Amino acid sequence: MDYAVIAEDIVKTYNSVRALDDVSLRVPVGCVYGLLGPNGAGKSTLISIIVGVSKPDKGKVMVLGGSPLSPGIRARIGFQPQEHGLHPNLTGWENLFFYAGIYGVSPRDARDRIRELAEKLGITGYLDKPVRTYSGGLRQRLSIVAALIHDPELIVLDEPTTGLDPGIRKSVWGLIMDLRRSGKTVILATHYMEEADKLSDEVAIMDKGRIIVSGSPEELKSRYGPPAVIEVVLREQSMAEKLESYLAGNLGLQVNKTGAETLRIHCRDPDQLVPEITSTAYELGLSISVLRVLKPDLEDVFLKLTGRRLEG
Ligand SMILES: Nc1ncnc2c1ncn2[C@@H]1O[C@H](COP(=O)(O)OP(=O)(O)OP(=O)(O)O)[C@@H](O)[C@H]1O
Ligand SMILES: [Mg+2]
Repeated sequence: MDYAVIAEDIVKTYNSVRALDDVSLRVPVGCVYGLLGPNGAGKSTLISIIVGVSKPDKGKVMVLGGSPLSPGIRARIGFQPQEHGLHPNLTGWENLFFYAGIYGVSPRDARDRIRELAEKLGITGYLDKPVRTYSGGLRQRLSIVAALIHDPELIVLDEPTTGLDPGIRKSVWGLIMDLRRSGKTVILATHYMEEADKLSDEVAIMDKGRIIVSGSPEELKSRYGPPAVIEVVLREQSMAEKLESYLAGNLGLQVNKTGAETLRIHCRDPDQLVPEITSTAYELGLSISVLRVLKPDLEDVFLKLTGRRLEG
């Protein structure tokens, strides 16, 4: 198999913080590779090494068959940093033409590409305005267009949809799927498990500077997730707390509180447990508003492996 990125035993330390603690990964050409992890997991640090913005203390990185520090390789990478690199006093067009110039894209090609990408992300109407007038979401989308201006082979997106409205997030998802269809390789850092699940061919789950597990979303869920999940929403927070302590304490179940009134219960056999939960709630005088049996998701995998929640 051809790999767009091969990283081996990467270590990166900032002062006393081990941001990356012996990380290895292989990203096959043509796939969407998700880096999923909570704040501080090391996603941006790993990305900065892959795109050649910073050097590892230890370990080796090979990107598109060469070193990410070489200009020839960098020209084939598109990078959307978490903190966008846009000039506030320039308009959207001017910012994008600046990046086009850096990458040697002709004005005519740049114009066509910008029109097409801006249309897909719904920002065409804003390109004549200075970036300082943009909302955070608009800046983010402009910075995605900037990363794609030179039609790179490898596209590295650092939390492209954080803070975007659900509708706009979908348009970014559509763009990522288009990139994949046209044979590009995409590395996508995110802390949204739904995004990683939906878009990635392969996901590396990161925590505290390590990749704790990797594989396709389906593999990870079937290997590490529980057979089923029961979600129960109680009428009041105090009721959720009572049910949580009963189920965890008396039945020894893994129960996670995922909202003020919401419990997520990992279980083997929902047919047996659902009646038990409803009768327990009845006996304790607790009102259930919603009870659903669900398949495990990547958050359940993260919970299982770390005992913590992924999304705060
Ligand atoms: N320039 C830096 N100087 C000092 N510490 C840093 C620096 N960059 C990152 N760190 C630390 O390294 C660790 C990993 O940070 P990193 O930004 O890679 O995580 P992340 O997964 O991208 O998090 P987030 O989801 O918040 O973007 C954190 O503990 C962070 O505080
Ligand atoms: Mg980050």
